[in-house]
Amino acid sequence: MDHSTAPAAQARPFRATPGATPLSGRITVPGDKSISHRALMFGALAQGRTRITGLLEGEDVLRTAAAMRALGATVVQDGPGAWHVEGQGRGNLTEPADVLDMGNSGTAARLICGILASHPIFAVLTGDASLRSRPMRRVTDPLAACGARFTGRAGGRLPLAIEGAAETQPLTYRLPVASAQVKSAILLAGLNAAGVTTVEEPEATRDHTENMLRHFGAEVAVEVAGTGRVIRLTGQPRLVAADILVPGDPSSAAFPLVAALIVPGSEITISGVGLNPLRTGLFATLREMGADLRITGERVEGGETVGDITVLHGPLQAVEVPRSRAPSMIDEFPVLAVAAAFATGVSRFRGLSELRVKESDRLAATAALLTANGVVVAIEGDDLIVHGMGGPPPGGGIVLTHMDHRLAMSALVLGLGCRAAVTVDDAAFIETSFPGFADLMRGLGADIAAA
Ligand code: S3P
Repeated sequence: MDHSTAPAAQARPFRATPGATPLSGRITVPGDKSISHRALMFGALAQGRTRITGLLEGEDVLRTAAAMRALGATVVQDGPGAWHVEGQGRGNLTEPADVLDMGNSGTAARLICGILASHPIFAVLTGDASLRSRPMRRVTDPLAACGARFTGRAGGRLPLAIEGAAETQPLTYRLPVASAQVKSAILLAGLNAAGVTTVEEPEATRDHTENMLRHFGAEVAVEVAGTGRVIRLTGQPRLVAADILVPGDPSSAAFPLVAALIVPGSEITISGVGLNPLRTGLFATLREMGADLRITGERVEGGETVGDITVLHGPLQAVEVPRSRAPSMIDEFPVLAVAAAFATGVSRFRGLSELRVKESDRLAATAALLTANGVVVAIEGDDLIVHGMGGPPPGGGIVLTHMDHRLAMSALVLGLGCRAAVTVDDAAFIETSFPGFADLMRGLGADIAAA
């Protein structure tokens, strides 16, 4: 799929129709996107063969696989979800012969900036229209202080030319925004710096980079500081290949889970979902709303906690989500807003400024998604306010998805519980993170089809 042309060229409208039947069944969701990107990247930086099981084979992660190949690593698919990477050893990636196209993926683009910043090579990064509109200065400004040189479009946007540093300087950096991508880019550059790279984050963000770097043999010290953390990476470690088991993505599990909550009579179980505490803000929030959400079989697999989540349809109450919780559920607000539309009372989600710079302006687009389907919403500063209807909203709207997979899935979930069907202008971008979404939902009994 080529997303670099105008989205309308291959738009795939889809419709979700409320059905008479409840959703039921036991499913797994595709592998965690954050962990999948990192497994391929860190495998390419390590010495030896890294075997990966459960890799997300979505468009975003396949872009990372292609980029790692272009940088000299051997990346091979051995079977469904089973991959291996032959790394070159830290600091040994080689100059790509062509532009690296990261498609729709902000995580791929920003983390690869960190990798390239500390390799003495030249590379050019680009992406689709969505990615080319997203801010990159948040990574290029600190990485320039490590010694790399970046030349981009106005506002530092892609396409971006990168000349990596010959001698990377270790950085001490306090993140101005709560972003795991920025933290990870700086730590990845720090791998090749002599000395300790320190990142201070005001709010704790997902820690897959820290966990996986340790798994590959790096020394990473983490100190809790108030609501945030200080991470110290000792530079120039020997990174040794290590096998990785990718858990189910909690951000993908969120869609069938909310669908079951809002479709009367439903009960579903999602097995093997990642339960890293820095990713589970949605589950805590849904429970506060009164959701019957049970976690069983909690276990540690490949260094990450996973479990099976069972959810039953039931009435929901409005909720207030504090700003401090936003990083642990940053990708889940569109689908949480859908759940809030069914709840009794007015919900408020605080501190969502980062949603404005996701695959789309998700704050505005989430509000528009609900408005188009008869739900009253407001944006006050960086807060989203949803007036719950205490039952099914009217629906019947056409939702513009702005090249954003999570908006498309949220709108289709909404349609399953509304009084009238919901149509999305383009479901193609769902492939970036959740290949097989419509089939999986149909397997549970949902009526989702091309419109
Ligand atoms: C991600 C971090 C988050 C998240 C994205 C994946 C990661 O972005 O929204 O989907 O894998 O590090 P930010 O770092 O911009 O918050």
